[in-house]
Amino acid sequence: MKVFAVFVASITLCAGNAIPLVPGDNSHYVEGESRYIWMLDEDSVPQLVDLAEPVDETLVNSRNEDSNQYWLYTRLNPNTAQVLVNGNANTVWNSNYDGSKPIKVIAHGWQGSGNSGVNSLVSSAFLEIEDVNIIVVDWRVVANNNYVIAVVGVPGVGQYVGNFLEWLINTAGGNWNNVHLIGFSLGAHVVGSAGLQAGGQPARVTGLDPAGPLWIGNPSALNSSNGQYVEAIHTDGGLQGVLIPIGDADFYPNNGRHPQPGCATSSCSHGRAPQLFASSVRTNHLQGRLCESFNQAQNEQCNGSILNMGNGIVSKRGSGIYGLSTGSSWPY
Ligand SMILES: *[C@@H]1O[C@H](CO)[C@@H](O)[C@H](O)[C@H]1NC(C)=O
Ligand SMILES: *[C@@H]1O[C@H](CO)[C@@H](O)[C@H](O)[C@H]1NC(C)=O
Repeated sequence: MKVFAVFVASITLCAGNAIPLVPGDNSHYVEGESRYIWMLDEDSVPQLVDLAEPVDETLVNSRNEDSNQYWLYTRLNPNTAQVLVNGNANTVWNSNYDGSKPIKVIAHGWQGSGNSGVNSLVSSAFLEIEDVNIIVVDWRVVANNNYVIAVVGVPGVGQYVGNFLEWLINTAGGNWNNVHLIGFSLGAHVVGSAGLQAGGQPARVTGLDPAGPLWIGNPSALNSSNGQYVEAIHTDGGLQGVLIPIGDADFYPNNGRHPQPGCATSSCSHGRAPQLFASSVRTNHLQGRLCESFNQAQNEQCNGSILNMGNGIVSKRGSGIYGLSTGSSWPY
């Protein structure tokens, strides 16, 4: 009874724990404090997330390597996936996979699947500019749980991806210097864990507004050891995305926070990162300027040396915090 009373008191006293009523409106949210946040689902519909939701460990522990699916797209099959199965070489021999070409791996976010819009947005940009192997990771078995369970499952999902890529390259050819991993939101931490599992060998790892809730101080979060060059693009920092720098290079378009130009909701700002990235893959026109400090990025005062944000150049390298401003609609 006493516990219950304390619980009720803390709920009523702590404004950060009130249930927010306007879908997609995260104006109440305080990183590290608030219990509820609106997060985008696969159809870009905001869903209310309870960050204190209990986790059923048996659900998490029942996952295995087969929980992930790997969907291959190439210029020969840009719209129809060929499913590659870890350990089954015939699925690779019978596909259009070509080990002499670059590998681009894309991981969707919470509540997503291989059919999520982010996958076709990014893969069509890559296939437009370069003859590559696109591998879409479908990790819906874990992603389509409540947010807390999905977060707990992310490192395992990423390890499976890392194991799969090791197997694929050993079996059918490929070169880690030609591997670029891209993940959106929770998917950014998936590809981070994949790169970690692969010993940091991937040439590039790109986190598109890496998910923030439950990732601050989380040892499994995307970090600069996960690839040869790790980049994060922050567009909803402090809300659905992480605000602090976590890669080798961190880009803060329009100060990296909500509202991004033309966005009314945090979900729109969160979803802006994949849009900016896909556009940069096609035309490589988004120029970051080096910041002297994180504060300079927050105040949109960065005016140092230029490093282009995003793009598909696998040999790209760089470090530091970068700011830039963008337009409000495609191609930004
Ligand atoms: C990245 O995360 C891994 C796993 O927690 C850790 O071993 C490594 O030291 C981290 N690297 C950096 C630069 O923080
Ligand atoms: C950048 O801006 C600072 C002040 O905000 C100024 O002192 C500095 O000269 C500028 N640097 C360049 C390269 O424009």
